[in-house]
Amino acid sequence: MLKIGSLCLDSPFVLSPMAGVTDRYFRRIIRDLGGVGLVTMEFISSESLTRGVERTINMMSFALEERPLSIQIYGKDPVRMSDAAQIVEEIGADAIDINMGCPANKVLKGCAGAALMGDLSLARNIVRAVRSRVKIPLTVKFRLGLDDHRVNFLDLGRLCQDEGVNGVAMHARTARQMYSGQADWSLIADLKRTLDIPVLGNGDIREPADFLRMMEQTGCDGVLVGRAAVTNPWIFKQADALRRGELVPRVTLEERRDLIVRHFRLLAESEEEMTAFHKIRTFAGRYTHGLPGGKRLRQKIQSIKSVSDFLLEVEDFFEQVLAEQTLPPPAGAVVPGRPSAARPAEHPHGDGAALCPSLESAGRAE
Ligand SMILES: Cc1cc2nc3c(=O)[nH]c(=O)nc-3n(C[C@H](O)[C@H](O)[C@H](O)COP(=O)(O)O)c2cc1C
Repeated sequence: MLKIGSLCLDSPFVLSPMAGVTDRYFRRIIRDLGGVGLVTMEFISSESLTRGVERTINMMSFALEERPLSIQIYGKDPVRMSDAAQIVEEIGADAIDINMGCPANKVLKGCAGAALMGDLSLARNIVRAVRSRVKIPLTVKFRLGLDDHRVNFLDLGRLCQDEGVNGVAMHARTARQMYSGQADWSLIADLKRTLDIPVLGNGDIREPADFLRMMEQTGCDGVLVGRAAVTNPWIFKQADALRRGELVPRVTLEERRDLIVRHFRLLAESEEEMTAFHKIRTFAGRYTHGLPGGKRLRQKIQSIKSVSDFLLEVEDFFEQVLAEQTLPPPAGAVVPGRPSAARPAEHPHGDGAALCPSLESAGRAE
């Protein structure tokens, strides 16, 4: 169990905030699959929220079934940030997170996100203002620093702890790195050794086994996962099974198809055509990484123009893949599960088509 202030989580695994991804539909899907302790909303601009921008307010709706849920806010003005925090508390979020790690230019130029790592006195003022305004658990998510010459995560971590933050999460890259290179988990271990409050590690979890590996290697209290949750939404459930010493549940193609179709139907029914279309396209690309023929589908959907055609294409795709599975293996094929030069391990036609974790990672290279 992971305890962040007064919040007790059944699992130490957390869905990392991802703009454009961790919306109410995706959070619900992840929550329903299980194994996740806390889900996080896409980041919310404190400016837009406190000015009452309708789109931002809409983004903040959530279902009770998603909880425990954390809402992440960003901004540079302590007063607006604390006003935004109060709204977050009032609408019933279980925790609030301050973004001090976003490396996007748009956010950095507004002196928010990772830019706050370059101005620790402003960072302190923001944390202090938010802390004094809300009672719900408060966390801060940051990176190693702005760049290799300005690595100051230990200072920021101590500052957070001193100001009454209940936990910190660190993506172990600098802002300049964006997503390049590798997350340096050894620095998560440094942070954990330095602080008494819970430390959550983040960066480059790819397989269910990576969750436990990060916890063992760094001593961190919990793990945030972003990108891998989109290519494999079952990753939390699988990692949680590992943590409990149980067998890792395998995911069949039928289950994968049902999840994708359910997600897309939800979007199509609930969102405007353009928004639904845009989201479905983004998710289709990510969801089909690692699937046999996934690349073919991704190319095909480039030219699709409507949500209904999209759904048909996805359903057809799975029908075809499932039909291929039932065919006898071609001459010279090896027994499924054993890698061969003739048929790489990432194309598991024929064996009940379980998508095992190794397939998920192999698929990324597709
Ligand atoms: C599409 C996308 C959107 C993201 N949006 C946010 C965000 O709103 N707030 C945030 O703190 N981090 C955001 N991140 C960073 C992730 O939360 C996470 O820190 C990063 O992807 C590293 O973790 P991973 O290797 O598990 O993906 C985003 C990442 C991606 C790929």
